[in-house]
Amino acid sequence: MLTREESALLTLVGPATPMGELMRRYWIPALLSAELVPAGRVKRVRLLGEDLVAFRAPDGTVGLLGEFCSHRGASLYFGRNEAAGLRCVYHGWKYGADGQCVDMPNEPPASSFTEKVRHPAYPCAERGGVVWTYMGPTSPPPALPELEWALVPDAHRFVSKFYQECNYLQALEGGIDPAHISFLHGVLDAGDEALRDLDRASAGFALAAQLEKAPRIDVVDTPYGALIGAERDARDGMVYWRITQFHLPFHTMPPTDPKPDPVMHSHIFVPVDDVNLVNWCISWHPTRALTEAERSAMSSGASIHILDYAPATSEAYGDIRPAAHARNDYRCDWDAHETRKFFGVPGVGVQDKAITESQRPIVDRTRERLGKADTAIIRIRKILMDAARALRDRGTPPPGLASASFLIRPASVLLPKDVAWVDGARAQLVARPTTAA
Ligand code: FES
Ligand SMILES: [Fe+2]
Repeated sequence: MLTREESALLTLVGPATPMGELMRRYWIPALLSAELVPAGRVKRVRLLGEDLVAFRAPDGTVGLLGEFCSHRGASLYFGRNEAAGLRCVYHGWKYGADGQCVDMPNEPPASSFTEKVRHPAYPCAERGGVVWTYMGPTSPPPALPELEWALVPDAHRFVSKFYQECNYLQALEGGIDPAHISFLHGVLDAGDEALRDLDRASAGFALAAQLEKAPRIDVVDTPYGALIGAERDARDGMVYWRITQFHLPFHTMPPTDPKPDPVMHSHIFVPVDDVNLVNWCISWHPTRALTEAERSAMSSGASIHILDYAPATSEAYGDIRPAAHARNDYRCDWDAHETRKFFGVPGVGVQDKAITESQRPIVDRTRERLGKADTAIIRIRKILMDAARALRDRGTPPPGLASASFLIRPASVLLPKDVAWVDGARAQLVARPTTAA
């Protein structure tokens, strides 16, 4: 349970809020690189409560500008994507990717007004097929995060994203909550028949979930966030640890599947504003290309991915709004809900989206009743609040800004009972990408 002040500190992310300011110190994924074509259409983007437009100039560089023209507020979504800048169609003002106004054709030729107008603009960089932006005050920005999935060859990686209609923290808390998968993603009866009947998208998770009823949860702080371990007994005096990574401010990596040489997954829960987020879903393999079968399963919504979208609109992220949403019960199969599955909504990703949206846009954390199973939730909130307060009150740079601190992996390990789990799993928690971007 939180106080109102703590709740606001954690959840409000708009300009000048402590959490928004914290998030602005990190690189933020804005779009897929493939969404922007040189000299092509402008796309709306909304991040941390700010309306923006993204475009790729004819020379291939990416620009990210405030949506509304500094002159009289027309939308630059309709802007003309010209050489060296975006031109407003209302009176022709033109802005470079750095926000500098470079042309004002409606002013007298002798005017030096252009030099005085600087439009909001954020630097962008591309890595791993993603356009990242830095919205913070530090100049130059920190180095791009060395996330393994972004450094492996393109064929090793699958990235999707979907729009989620709730505060980012609800989605993030689902991502570091080992206790929910036995229920939300589980089956009513763990027998073979029930598992065979499950939709393909849920099968892997459901199997893992059966292993994990009421796990013992332990959390260890790291220099960049935290490790969340879920422990259960295994055979021959061994214990089985499933380990989730949390990297500030909004990256999670769920435990790998219990099999050798697994594909790894990660989420990035990027706030659009206080009550919406983009849920980035990444799957990658450190040492091999994903197979065609893996790729096509992910494309059809297996594992953590959702790619079944409603018809696109030109709003920010209007092309990644899932077709399953609150107004159609997330396409719940009520028969399966009654007879086979704990939650009848098809697909792990949609199940997570449905249940976190059902908590309402910002869940009231002053009225919760947290138990032992919520240990990780409590700790991650503290880590986020401590970092936001330290930045706000003392200007302390947040943890995990160093690009190499992102070289992490999740894990699932079988360990002797007397081995400390972080020590026992240490080698597997470090990423060693063999290919640099
Ligand atoms: S509003 Fe954009 S040029 Fe006038
Ligand atoms: Fe989940």
